[in-house]
Amino acid sequence: ARVAAAADVADLRLLARRRTPRMVFDYVDGAAEGERSMARAVEAFDRVEFAPHVLRDVAEAPTSVEILGRRVAMPVVLAPTGFTRMMHREGERAVARAAERAAVPYTLSTMGTTTAGDVAAAAPGGWNWFQLYVVRDRGRNLERLELASDAGMDVLVVTVDVPVAGARLRDVRHGLTIPPSLRWRGVLEAARHPAWWFDFLTGEPLTFATVEGAPDDMAGLTNLMFDPSVTVADLEWIRSAWRGKLLVKGVQRVDDAKELAAVGVDGLVVSNHGGRQLDRSATPLELLPEVVEAVGDRTEVFLDGGVRSGADVAAAVALGARACFVGRAYLYGLMAGGERGVTRVLDLLHAELVRTLQLLGVGGVERLTRDVVRLRGS
Ligand code: FNR
Repeated sequence: ARVAAAADVADLRLLARRRTPRMVFDYVDGAAEGERSMARAVEAFDRVEFAPHVLRDVAEAPTSVEILGRRVAMPVVLAPTGFTRMMHREGERAVARAAERAAVPYTLSTMGTTTAGDVAAAAPGGWNWFQLYVVRDRGRNLERLELASDAGMDVLVVTVDVPVAGARLRDVRHGLTIPPSLRWRGVLEAARHPAWWFDFLTGEPLTFATVEGAPDDMAGLTNLMFDPSVTVADLEWIRSAWRGKLLVKGVQRVDDAKELAAVGVDGLVVSNHGGRQLDRSATPLELLPEVVEAVGDRTEVFLDGGVRSGADVAAAVALGARACFVGRAYLYGLMAGGERGVTRVLDLLHAELVRTLQLLGVGGVERLTRDVVRLRGS
């Protein structure tokens, strides 16, 4: 009931904070080092100034767009997030089902806690994508691509901004382990969030991609598994091993975007990983127009980071994004109320997007133009 009463994503974030152990909430809510990349990504959306038309017929404001050759209900993609069953016991299945119902794509992470086959079974009518982190064991990468492909996933998102783990200081300070353990704050913590701990301790154990002898802290696990020597050349074997569409996520410079567009990828995601990797890196919304200008005629350009509302989606699309990836926003919904919480987030994003288009005097998301948005102070 509380989930239905949430008026915006910020309300769901507060609910999420109440319902999950602090270390779990902070794993989602936090970012790297001084958290400036994350704060700036959000702040850039605060600086959006709309220039609305008046006296336009906005009786209809359709939100549907084509992404990678396929129609979706609105320009939103649910971003890959690791360990999703830690946020709520239904985890990836709940998110995939909510995405299926809303007719937007869902991206399963390499660090997911549900297999590609189980995601496909949970949301057989959904458009399910797979995200790859290139790990040192090259055979494992190919196996993962095959499992995704066998599960019907036809879009691969290769994330390239994690040569090594970012330093997420909230996790370090909490001593977060994967899986979380009660030794962390003991009885007091369990008493504060009994429903979460009950679900967690009685649910399916948290299974995830790992390697022999890996430590149980996130950064240690990442650094042992991920291959820091990956280069653009590796995209070629990935390209040849993958028959579907290929997106590269984590582009933070125009020259890199040009280099990647030349390799022949189907799309680029302008992203700094939600500020969870390099702190003080390029702000996605600010960088977006330059990337679109440089490669937008050759490849689809997506925006990722800081999106918390449908008005944010409208702004990013006006500035040239094909669609927005959304990470924390749906995880707040998931932590607040499982599948219903994710559905609430998607309903809010849709309603906010429609209302923004109408108030902007723009009769549909595909009619958004650059001139309806100005970024103050830039
Ligand atoms: C992420 N992100 C991420 N990205 C990725 O490619 N693989 C992954 O496994 C994860 N895991 C992950 C976990 C959590 C808890 C968060 C919050 C984020 C990054 C994610 O895909 C996306 O880039 C950001 O979340 C976008 O920023 P916003 O929307 O959260 O501001």
